[in-house]
Amino acid sequence: MRQKLVAGNWKMNGSMQANQQLLENLKQGVTHIQAEIAVCPPFPYLLQVKELLKNTAIRYGAQNVSHESDGAFTGEVSAAMLVDLACTYVLVGHSERRTLYAETDEGVAEKFVVAQRAGLIPILCVGESLTERESGDTEKVVERQLNAVLTVAGVGAFSKSVIAYEPVWAIGTGKTASAEQAQAVHTFIRQHLAKQPQGTAVAQTVQILYGGSVKANNATELFAMPDIDGGLIGGASLKADDFLAICQAAH
Ligand code: G3P
Repeated sequence: MRQKLVAGNWKMNGSMQANQQLLENLKQGVTHIQAEIAVCPPFPYLLQVKELLKNTAIRYGAQNVSHESDGAFTGEVSAAMLVDLACTYVLVGHSERRTLYAETDEGVAEKFVVAQRAGLIPILCVGESLTERESGDTEKVVERQLNAVLTVAGVGAFSKSVIAYEPVWAIGTGKTASAEQAQAVHTFIRQHLAKQPQGTAVAQTVQILYGGSVKANNATELFAMPDIDGGLIGGASLKADDFLAICQAAH
């Protein structure tokens, strides 16, 4: 049985004061929550989050990482720096990195490998655009994104990673994929890993999260699906009550 995971992607939001308030409220409310919980703040707040979450079960991570190890790469943040800050997770290949910052499947795969080699758990984000879905290319796109990682890391690497299926057309739009739509793609992802040589076991154990307008009023139905192991939450992760309600739904 896979443990449910609910991770909050704060995106480029927050402040020292707002983060303190949000995390104090989260710490009050997580006592009876069964799911694993993580938050992914912007880089500048990782140290504050580290301090505020000390001695709690709430994990944290970053929203991106450089594929470079160190050196003259202005503005970049290395995997070693994230480990230095005791991060557990790092998002790689979020659709906003792919669409707004031209990250390629191969570049995302490189980040996946660098992150894992440093001891971080990469959360590999995959998903199709509305045009791709309407053209019937959803599985082709997700397969291409998965294969870029399989080629360089192999299927065994997914035993120490998480996958997040985030249909681009559902991110920040309020247009959530139906539980059936999400389940279908999660099943496809699991079956694609299972088809790889020695992929059967890891396909069964890898957590596959759904992301894209998850809210308190749709989380229960989504998380009830057999291949949906939790969620990657954007907007709703910025309000403690909403995020806690979503975490409650993951049991
Ligand atoms: O990474 C999660 C994010 O892309 C989903 O955003 O606001 O639709 O929950 P949102």
